Amino acid sequence: MSDALKKAAADAALALVAPGMRLGLGTGSTAKLFVDGLGARVAQGLQVICVATSEATQAQAESLGIPMSTLDLTPELDLTIDGADEVDAELRLIKGGGAALLREKIVAAASRRMVVIADAGKLVGTLGRFPLPIEVVPFGLEATRRAVAAAIAASGANGELVLRKRPDGTTLLTDGGHFILDAHLGSIADPERLAALLNQVPGVVESGLFIGLATAAFIARPEGVQILGDIAAQRD
Ligand code: A5P
Repeated sequence: MSDALKKAAADAALALVAPGMRLGLGTGSTAKLFVDGLGARVAQGLQVICVATSEATQAQAESLGIPMSTLDLTPELDLTIDGADEVDAELRLIKGGGAALLREKIVAAASRRMVVIADAGKLVGTLGRFPLPIEVVPFGLEATRRAVAAAIAASGANGELVLRKRPDGTTLLTDGGHFILDAHLGSIADPERLAALLNQVPGVVESGLFIGLATAAFIARPEGVQILGDIAAQRD
């Protein structure tokens, strides 16, 4: 997505920020633009308190002087703004392309509202073209990989599982010290069933399927920003 479209989505989300809010800050190139914009508003006097979804976002926010907290000190958030790798019409997401899915999901679940910022290329009819990230503990990797493959098959999907590497060829470690298996499924006919089956596998920490978490999305197109869902909606 072009930086201009990412920025259009980020700017739309910035307009939702009000003084005194407790915010979750997402991870990725689109969320980074939102944090840049938030930093500019904080520099102008906006008062907010924020929780980051990754070490990278934490470092960016601190460098901009954004007041930061943790979910231990601030366990309930008003609004989280984050990117996504795929969004469907029901606001189901694939996330974790940037390896931050676990903290992203914890922060989103602690937020009354989660608003996704993305370009129209991320909007899909069926999830799964983007490889589904599955965060697993390093212990027992091969046994867990087999159990994950069985869970995927039981859900009616299939495809290769690839252990994510860094560009230098070493195995990627998440901020939580885990590995990521990327599931190349092509399409996920029943995301709820797949998410439930993956959650039952010992060794799986989280999957990148975000279901029932996003309350709205800003989808940027060259002709304007489309709103999916209800930007005022809150989860209980
Ligand atoms: C990070 O783990 C991901 O969930 C990102 O939110 C996702 O990859 C979107 O990133 P971009 O905004 O860079 O496309």
